Amino acid sequence: MQVTPRPPLVFARGRGSWLWDSEERPYLDLVQGWAVNTLGHCAPALVEAITAQAARLLHPGAGVHNERAPELAQRLAGLSGLDRCFFTNSGAEANEGAIKLARKFGRLHRGGAHEIITFEHGFHGRTLATMSASGKPGFDRLFAPQVPGFPKARLNELASVEALVSRDTVAVMLEPIQGEAGVIEAEPAFLRSLRALCDAHGLLLVFDEVQTGVGRTGRLWGHEEAGVRPDIMTLGKGLGGGVPIGALLAREAVCCFEPGDQGGTYNGNPLVCAAALAVLDAVTAPGFLPAVQARGRELRAGLDRIAARTGGAPARGRGLLLALDLPGADAARQAAEQGLALAAAPGGRGLLLNAVRPQRLRLMPALDIAGDEVALALELLERCLPAR
Ligand SMILES: Cc1ncc(COP(=O)(O)O)c(C=O)c1O
Repeated sequence: MQVTPRPPLVFARGRGSWLWDSEERPYLDLVQGWAVNTLGHCAPALVEAITAQAARLLHPGAGVHNERAPELAQRLAGLSGLDRCFFTNSGAEANEGAIKLARKFGRLHRGGAHEIITFEHGFHGRTLATMSASGKPGFDRLFAPQVPGFPKARLNELASVEALVSRDTVAVMLEPIQGEAGVIEAEPAFLRSLRALCDAHGLLLVFDEVQTGVGRTGRLWGHEEAGVRPDIMTLGKGLGGGVPIGALLAREAVCCFEPGDQGGTYNGNPLVCAAALAVLDAVTAPGFLPAVQARGRELRAGLDRIAARTGGAPARGRGLLLALDLPGADAARQAAEQGLALAAAPGGRGLLLNAVRPQRLRLMPALDIAGDEVALALELLERCLPAR
């Protein structure tokens, strides 16, 4: 089924920040599977962890204990300050679980309140409920009727949230940085105001950290910048570093699931949990996050130089989740095409870019990209832009 336009290339192998196609042409990858490959392609520590676990035990089933799932749950609890964890196969499923948990909490503790205030342009996944929670233009009509109960506020406008709070409200849910919308930051002061608003009304604050979590913003969690704590947090993408795992984390007082409420065949599968443990080992090692911040500053400085030259706005985002507007109606899409075309020249090296919007590039390289790779990425990017 055709669900996304794909370039006429087949990628065959990868290592770190590099991908090679079936013709052995190399590409510097600034997309990394849509911000998934935290440690780049085929990181040795990740491959070793997966290989060892695959040889030991793949899937005893979600109805019994295994060695890796509690180990990962405990690690995540320690790192997040949230007490309990439910593992999923994707970010959408983690958010679906967050929605169910909040609704059940509302039924038990808030007189049946079930509405979750979400945000215009937010993105939470592609199940029916998470599409309904998303504020992506067009999602409201695509598979209508929507799942009800997701009134939309405007990001960074507290009054728009306050106006939607009613006795039916149980939670407020948002991304610390709206990634799919084009890397639009929830201002730290706005997140702090939301925390205060939720506390004043007894609402749950839910952070969707599927894209921003696990070091992407230069801190372990995207919300750390604001110094506020959520009641519920969801993870996906970068947690598995390339294997499909998501997680729903919550404070003890919110965890009201009982047997039968939630589950899934592959939840907490030891293979994917072993991968996530290897990713967390790397990301929490001394020096890792400072290096993400340093590479982020270098990449941003280069993007800002391009913006100054083209007369565009400065780069947006944090850490290694950055975006750059290019002047011209379809300029980002054309730059992404040009990035692939660079590899076609004899001895050429391509650049993998994501045009999150026709005019906006989103950059989400491996978190352990090297300084010289950042410099090369900027050099290649210059060659993807329209002639001066
Ligand atoms: C913030 C956010 N939430 C949820 C999702 C959905 O995750 P998945 O595609 O793993 O279902 C995404 C994916 O882009 C995302 O960026």
